[in-house]
Amino acid sequence: MASIVPYAIAATAILAAALLYRLETFEAVALPEHELARMAAPPLVVPNRNDKLLRGSERIGEGKLVGPEDIAYDPKTGLIYTGGDDGWISKVAFKDSAAESVAEKWVNTGGRPLGIVHGAHGEVVVADAYKGLLNISKDGVIQLLTDEAEGLKFKLTDAVDIGPDGTLYFTDASSKYSIEHAFLDMMDGRPHGRFLSYDPSTKQTTVLLKDLYFANGVALSHDQTFVIVCETAMLRCKKYYIQGPQAGSVEMFVENLPGLPDNIRYDGHGLYWIALGADPGLLRMLQKYPWIRKTIAMLDKYVGRPKTEKNGGSVAVDLEGKVVAHYYDAEVSYVTSCNKIAQYLYCGSLISSYITRLDLTRYPTTATATPST
Ligand SMILES: *[C@@H]1O[C@H](CO)[C@@H](O)[C@H](O)[C@H]1NC(C)=O
Repeated sequence: MASIVPYAIAATAILAAALLYRLETFEAVALPEHELARMAAPPLVVPNRNDKLLRGSERIGEGKLVGPEDIAYDPKTGLIYTGGDDGWISKVAFKDSAAESVAEKWVNTGGRPLGIVHGAHGEVVVADAYKGLLNISKDGVIQLLTDEAEGLKFKLTDAVDIGPDGTLYFTDASSKYSIEHAFLDMMDGRPHGRFLSYDPSTKQTTVLLKDLYFANGVALSHDQTFVIVCETAMLRCKKYYIQGPQAGSVEMFVENLPGLPDNIRYDGHGLYWIALGADPGLLRMLQKYPWIRKTIAMLDKYVGRPKTEKNGGSVAVDLEGKVVAHYYDAEVSYVTSCNKIAQYLYCGSLISSYITRLDLTRYPTTATATPST
């Protein structure tokens, strides 16, 4: 008798798990074949890399910032604006010495400010994860611009940039999952992201692209003819033309990135900097198997999931969408924004209490011939 007890226990556990799986309301779906085919490409070989992003990085505003997500530099004042998990938008005055740099709280949105862009009159426009798209005047007065389009409310307003005519281009990463459940959006497999515009003269919100896989960073192109929008869950960024004969059409800008793309910034000197939250890890494999994604989502929900995110950092991408350099570090994750100002690369993160600054002239990349991750 006693010998069958362990089998009975094992069988019961398997049945219970199977039942739990069937009863679970979270459903993951398969990706379309054409998307899976794109994800099946071998990892990109980036010609130059620095795999020790942390070594040499200084900390700016340490202890004063709570998950500084974006790095919005204002050349007029020389300040960086960044939004925190505590709702505060802070102004960061950075000096040659990191210790002398100061971060000062400015306005609290009452939400979770993510993407920030500077307007023409001292105002900033903020993509607030909970609130939607906000306009904050120089004096700190907050005005809601929009929080829905085509009858569908935003659930995770994420990034924003401004066009030459003042039109705002922004993303709602997901219409289904809020920021604390962003991970579940990736496991779900459905494209809940939208890329939108807001016209300040008509106050109209327009959906430019829908069915995006976690719509994230947005950047106006160097020549202002297109806007780049990144899809985190698909390791890529697309370009959407706003001017010229191709206006309204969409093309791939860069794909198969060596990490999960977040915000993107143009540095004014031929390079776009795309922050990578972490390396793709098992993402390419997971995209193929919805049942594994569902199982991981359930683990996350009921018992918590081990943190496997690593090798966060940034890539520099040229005007043609070619990845020319990769900065990363095994110990870094949740990098959300990198912005090159003078010879420094400033990076923000969802989870750190500071902004990192790397002197790119002192810590350059070296040539490589093997895949980065
Ligand atoms: C935001 O507010 C400023 C005034 O602080 C105004 O000049 C600007 O037009 C507003 N932007 C939008 C998009 O409404």
